[in-house]
Amino acid sequence: MNAISVIDKKRLNQELSYEEIKFIFEGFLNGEVEDYQMSALLMAIVLNGMTDNEIFALTDIFINSGDVLDLSEIDGVKVDKHSTGGIGDKTTLIVAPIVASLGVKVCKMSGRGLGYTGGTIDKLESIPGFRVALEDDDVINQVNDIGVALTSQTKNLVPLDKVVYSLRDVTATVESIPLIASSIMSKKIASGAEKILIDIKVGSGALIKTIEDANKLSELMIKIGNKYNREVRTLVTDMNTPLGKAIGNSLEVVEAVSILRGHGKGSYLYNVCVELASNMVSMALGDSLEDAKKMVIENINNGQAYEKFMEIVKYQGGDVTKLKVSEKAKVIRSNASGVIKNIDALKIGMLSAALGSSAMKQGDVIDHSVGVILHKLKGDTVNFGEPLCTIYIGSEEYYPDPLEAFEIEAI
Ligand code: URA
Repeated sequence: MNAISVIDKKRLNQELSYEEIKFIFEGFLNGEVEDYQMSALLMAIVLNGMTDNEIFALTDIFINSGDVLDLSEIDGVKVDKHSTGGIGDKTTLIVAPIVASLGVKVCKMSGRGLGYTGGTIDKLESIPGFRVALEDDDVINQVNDIGVALTSQTKNLVPLDKVVYSLRDVTATVESIPLIASSIMSKKIASGAEKILIDIKVGSGALIKTIEDANKLSELMIKIGNKYNREVRTLVTDMNTPLGKAIGNSLEVVEAVSILRGHGKGSYLYNVCVELASNMVSMALGDSLEDAKKMVIENINNGQAYEKFMEIVKYQGGDVTKLKVSEKAKVIRSNASGVIKNIDALKIGMLSAALGSSAMKQGDVIDHSVGVILHKLKGDTVNFGEPLCTIYIGSEEYYPDPLEAFEIEAI
């Protein structure tokens, strides 16, 4: 067996065996298979897809490339959640404390943003003092103490995904349903939770652009989960417009706190968070979704979800009173009157990233204090000259025109 014959087989759309997939992917991790060979294989996978057996094999090889977290020292059912990523997605900050406030154990490993999408770890790091890199033992102790821990991925969790993802990112091979499913599910399975909820974002600001692809990804993730005796539920949620009003790290933490304090009821962000939390609670406790929803709403209303958030922040060394938002703010006013037909998530993501809120390439330093606050949302009416959004500017001087993100239809 050699790398060329494996690549060639995939190019001809023939099914690869477990051994062939192991040979080439492990070889890449060990430095025996070159970047250009892995790039060629990834592109053949993007173009030809993978069979279920190939996907199961790849996921298994990913999982076994590093440590698998043993959460058996934590009593009770452990639930995890993952979002496929988007613009303004601060749901973990809201959902994890809600669920934990109901006695469900949440051990949540999150990632950093890359490109236009923000990452939960960057948002948490905008809280001065907040420790995001917890050791395995710290995670277990914290979940035993307060029911929840929010941490970055440990170094040796699915190391193969790290190297493959970095290469996918620069070879236009991210957008492949089998590769996305294996990448996400291997990390979720290695993280140890028995119940996993996946929020599949679909739309202009997401990796997945169509409902059909979202459904395919959903089906695959559930199948992979079942192979490992994990209950997996998926929700498909909209990412054509940004999620909520705040985009940018500190700004999103402020918005998350406000939702946890019961503000924003009826907004899309609030509804998505209630839906996600209810599914996690219902999976963990075995209650109906309806009952779980009642409990979730009650714990937002009675302040327990907010208190749990503050408990997490304190436990992990953070201080929300020290959150920093840039003082250089510029109000962007509408150049038309009408109804807002759309606020393009991708364009707002690009704006926020250009202001400095996310890393455009590995190693970029991000500015937690910058971003965008939307004053109008999709469906709102706006008059000429009314504020559409405020942008919080750091040291970056060049950014796209914010007005380009707004589609306003005259009435
Ligand atoms: N997020 C991941 O972790 N992996 C992918 O392949 C896509 C999104």
